[in-house]
Amino acid sequence: MQILILHTAQQVEALAARMIADRLKAKPNLVLGCATGRTMEGVYDRLVELASREKLDFGRVTTFNLDEYVGLTADDPQSYHYYMAEKLFSRVNLRPGRTHVPNGMARDLAAEAVSYEERIKAAGGIDLQLLGIGNTGHIGFNEPLSSLSSRTRDLALTPMTQEQNAGMFGDDPSKVPTRALTMGVGTILEAREALLIVTGAHKAQILATAVEGPVTSMVSATALQFHANCCILVDEAAAEKLVGREEYRRTFVHEPTWAPYRDFILSSERNA
Ligand code: F6R
Repeated sequence: MQILILHTAQQVEALAARMIADRLKAKPNLVLGCATGRTMEGVYDRLVELASREKLDFGRVTTFNLDEYVGLTADDPQSYHYYMAEKLFSRVNLRPGRTHVPNGMARDLAAEAVSYEERIKAAGGIDLQLLGIGNTGHIGFNEPLSSLSSRTRDLALTPMTQEQNAGMFGDDPSKVPTRALTMGVGTILEAREALLIVTGAHKAQILATAVEGPVTSMVSATALQFHANCCILVDEAAAEKLVGREEYRRTFVHEPTWAPYRDFILSSERNA
């Protein structure tokens, strides 16, 4: 794992967007794994800006979202289908047939889960998977006790996650759906590259647990410690509880992963 600590959430979002754009330029038929949530909003905004400024072509890109609530239709403003249409799909030249979000309305959720895995495989696997982390330590909606080799499936959301996501449901956790369809931890680990984006002081403890704690199914993000190509972008506030943060800060200049972004990072530091 490589951790990069930037000053602000805005810098994290800008670098994440830069990395996605560069992966797309290097591979026009990129298979991009998308996440939703508040953390990603700024990332998609910056990516849309880059797309227009640098004339990025999403025409051959395929996307797979991590998850969707069970029981919400695609046109429900609280669904992740709707979120993605609004924040990214309608703002770049992605082809509708190439965007995939699990169907939480499927009558047979187990069959939908199997078909989702098959579609990922048929697309050649995910090149770059974007990830956020939930208060329970979930990636996707892999709540505590999710097997670290789990595949796409439907599961129950924890009260803590309902609480976390209540903002989209009139601040009422009881209105948040109780179940979701999510890629499994095993599915996520098969992405060729993982990019975890974590901002804000409220994420500091769970980030430290995920990165520096022991691997456990109680915190599915700890499974990223097994991923051979995982970058983590964090702001100062989220980095606050990382025991090794001074080490991580010092190693960045010597770390080949960040070499293409050195100027970008140093200019962000100067402008902070
Ligand atoms: C969303 C997802 C979740 C979120 C996580 C953080 O598709 O899979 O794992 O990334 O819950 O959400 P925010 O960014 O709202 O704090």
